[in-house]
Amino acid sequence: MKILLTGGAGYIGSHTAVELIEAGHELVVIDNLSNSSVKSLRRVEAITQRDIVFHRVNLADLSGVREVFSSESIDAVIHFAGLKSVNTSLRDPIRYYQNNVGSTLILLQVMAEFGVHKLVFSSSATVYGIPQELPVSETAGVGFGITSPYGRSKSMIEQILTDASLAEPKLQIAILRYFNPIGAHVSGRIGEDPRNTPSNLLPYVSQVAIGLRKKVAVYGQQYPTTDGTGVRDYIHVVDLAHGHLRALDHLRSGVSTYNLGTGRGYSVLEVIEAFSRVSGRDIPLEIVAARSGDVAMSFADVEKAKRELAWVAERTLDDACRDVWRWQLQNPRGYDD
Ligand code: NAD
Ligand code: UFG
Repeated sequence: MKILLTGGAGYIGSHTAVELIEAGHELVVIDNLSNSSVKSLRRVEAITQRDIVFHRVNLADLSGVREVFSSESIDAVIHFAGLKSVNTSLRDPIRYYQNNVGSTLILLQVMAEFGVHKLVFSSSATVYGIPQELPVSETAGVGFGITSPYGRSKSMIEQILTDASLAEPKLQIAILRYFNPIGAHVSGRIGEDPRNTPSNLLPYVSQVAIGLRKKVAVYGQQYPTTDGTGVRDYIHVVDLAHGHLRALDHLRSGVSTYNLGTGRGYSVLEVIEAFSRVSGRDIPLEIVAARSGDVAMSFADVEKAKRELAWVAERTLDDACRDVWRWQLQNPRGYDD
């Protein structure tokens, strides 16, 4: 298939691009590079020895998106594009709704105009708010207790996709709720490249390990978990990428929603310990106040993806730490090196 990746230059998009190309698909990428560099796509081309068609277009630009659809014969879309910082979304909610919700509406409009009906959407476990059950399954309530405009934008988009599919039976949509993506491609050529101070745990830990930052601030040790620190379901980005391939293969009429996680949780201290062991570096840490909006525990019920997509995460936390460390050592300043 010829697949359009919106936001394909980003962290998850670039890793998914490698796996899609290796599975024989042709790729077209739309990205405005607001949180990425075109170098990631050049590296994907180097890994796969194949070309990617790239359009530097803002997905909020209706005529720009139309031009791409009229110049390419698109079979399916994977919609990664979006702003993803929980903190920034609290400071600038309008921009988040405009960018995430607004550009999805434009994408849906243009897909309808060009008769493209297959869509895979990047959602997030954040739509579960404070999970009402653990492990949390796709049937759990969503939309309540979400603590940020970012999270609400994902929940709104899920609702919009459901409404759109009720009105247009030809639409085939998979909503993928990612848990905590970590890791990097095994080549060390592509990885996560935060533009500012990392807000996610793994990139921060990795920058401490290499000496770019002094110590990890652990956000709270008062949670009802084994060691008091927050527990998350960390999924290797290459496993996540494979989940997209399976979702594409299993698209069917209507909306199907899948958790993509490992089904097991690790605490912040366990993650730091694993990274320290794998990298052989000391990782100083300090327990500080809890971060507002964080939940104590989140991990996925992964049975639906296993049953319907024949997909399970195969890589371990240690694998992910090893791959992040290789990426960090080879690219101490990310794509700027
Ligand atoms: P990323 O920032 O690395 O990638 C997103 C890409 O979208 C970037 O390249 C950015 O430049 C592009 N983009 C943003 N707005 C755009 C617009 N209006 N037009 C064109 N391009 C635009 O983020 P990522 O980690 O690869 O995340 C991909 C998707 O997965 C996002 O939708 C994110 O919300 C979702 N997600 C990520 C995580 C995570 O922890 N990384 C967890 C759950 C869900
Ligand atoms: N943490 C620290 N110190 C840090 C960073 C994080 O202790 O410097 C802790 C957090 O408190 C949390 C855990 O590490 O317990 C993971 O935090 P992340 O920021 O890496 O991830 P979150 O679970 O908060 O959020 C991530 C994405 C969101 C997404 C959510 C659910 O950032 O976009 O997963 O998918 F919505």
